Amino acid sequence: MTGDHEARRRAFAAVLPRGGLGRRLHFHPTVDSTNARALAELDAGRAEDGDLHLAHEQTAGRGSRGRRWHSPPGAGLWMSLVRLAPPPTPAAFWPALALVRALRAEGLDARVKWPNDVLVGARKIAGVLVEACYRGAVPQGWVIGLGVDLTIASFPPEVEVEATSFLLESGRAPDEAALLARLLDEMGALAADPHSLVEVLRAEGGLLGRRFNVRRGGERFTVVARDLDAEGHLVVDRDDGGRETWISSGELDLRPAD
Ligand code: BTN
Repeated sequence: MTGDHEARRRAFAAVLPRGGLGRRLHFHPTVDSTNARALAELDAGRAEDGDLHLAHEQTAGRGSRGRRWHSPPGAGLWMSLVRLAPPPTPAAFWPALALVRALRAEGLDARVKWPNDVLVGARKIAGVLVEACYRGAVPQGWVIGLGVDLTIASFPPEVEVEATSFLLESGRAPDEAALLARLLDEMGALAADPHSLVEVLRAEGGLLGRRFNVRRGGERFTVVARDLDAEGHLVVDRDDGGRETWISSGELDLRPAD
């Protein structure tokens, strides 16, 4: 319905920009993927720093590892922020930590699941997908993609066990424009913070000390997240003995065990 997405566009526009973020709002009633659109704008030389692409609905939302991101109409924040200068690193921690703060302010028990998810309790409420646009070896800019499930009441079977939404966790729909504003404010605060994102994640991400069930190929084991090194690599202790340092989630499948 036109009225539906136009009302959302107006509500979002009314709280933007936040510092340099969301200077221009590109609101898409329907789009394949906000990340794909933002990358195309970068590639065409039309992007400006702080551009925010927000979709009412994505028909081909991109998840990590080539997966689809379920993005039904009006049921979440499907958004991509454009930066022309390198974002704070590790870039996936940036929106994840900001969202954890914004959700905690709403009373939700949010935490980061390394490297790019946000959990409430043991279930995933949001995911981050950072992509860069290159011309040859020269970066043209970065796209910080974030999908936050807000009012989804039931999920497709393939993600049902692990996914959740703001509505399912709190029993209410959020003020989504206020949530977006808080999220962008926290991103601004983190970008200006002299502490690195790794330090902030160590201190307040709710990750260290938590237990995860891991699948890696045919292997199954349980770990406790012990530390993050300066690059944001995760140091884990296996329940069956031994310490490992993980550089990326690669072929790992992590599920919260507590
Ligand atoms: C993940 O798999 O956890 C990452 C999901 C990222 C989804 C968001 S929704 C907005 C933006 N546009 C996309 O196509 N993907 C990201």
